[in-house]
Amino acid sequence: MARRRPDRNQSLAQYSRRAGIYDFELSFFEPIRRRAIERLGLRPGDTVIDAGCGTGLSLGPLIAGVGGKGRIVAIEQSPDMIEKARERVREHGWRNVTLINAPVEEAEIGAKVDAALFHFTHDVLREPVAVANVVDRLKVGARVVASGLNCGHLWALPVNLVVLAAALHSVSTLEGIVRPWSHLEEALGRIRVEQMMLGGVYVASGMVGRKR
Ligand SMILES: C[S@@+](CC[C@H](N)C(=O)[O-])C[C@H]1O[C@@H](n2cnc3c(N)ncnc32)[C@H](O)[C@@H]1O
Repeated sequence: MARRRPDRNQSLAQYSRRAGIYDFELSFFEPIRRRAIERLGLRPGDTVIDAGCGTGLSLGPLIAGVGGKGRIVAIEQSPDMIEKARERVREHGWRNVTLINAPVEEAEIGAKVDAALFHFTHDVLREPVAVANVVDRLKVGARVVASGLNCGHLWALPVNLVVLAAALHSVSTLEGIVRPWSHLEEALGRIRVEQMMLGGVYVASGMVGRKR
């Protein structure tokens, strides 16, 4: 079957519709965000990429990890979603957040960073150029975490049906939904995958080794 690439226009339309209610919709998955950010093992002073940052729900916990001397580079292609993130940054008075309104595959990230988060960003993870653009900016030893929906074993049919229903209004391709982390795994060499919520959600973490 031909690989169906993520569709930027479809994604922009999805998130233009969802931006106003997105934070409420995601509230059920907040424990997964906490687990994903914990797995980043952030240290004060770190710089971290938030790829596909959406409305900026991860910014607070990321800032808690990197502290005032750290920095967040948050990339988001949807103008509607990043506007919410911009409001959040303004309200909190965060000065160490750089918001980039661009597709991750085209974003100019700048200096090398210590960590990267892909939280519920299936479309980004299924675009090898986007993954490569982030991985290219990671220092040796940098930690990377990807998390989100995935379809698991056939016996978990009811869970898979719920995952597919949720995915259909949040991603533009179901390609790779069984192993959403596969391009990241290829780029990093090794990755640890934890399954949660009866196998419908994963948190994959890895580190940039010396040889890539
Ligand atoms: C489900 S939301 C996740 C948002 C955020 N990471 C969170 O944890 O709440 C997926 C986000 O990825 C963004 N996105 C999808 N493809 C993208 C791409 N290629 N580059 C940048 N952002 C992208 C969407 O616009 C959307 O805001």
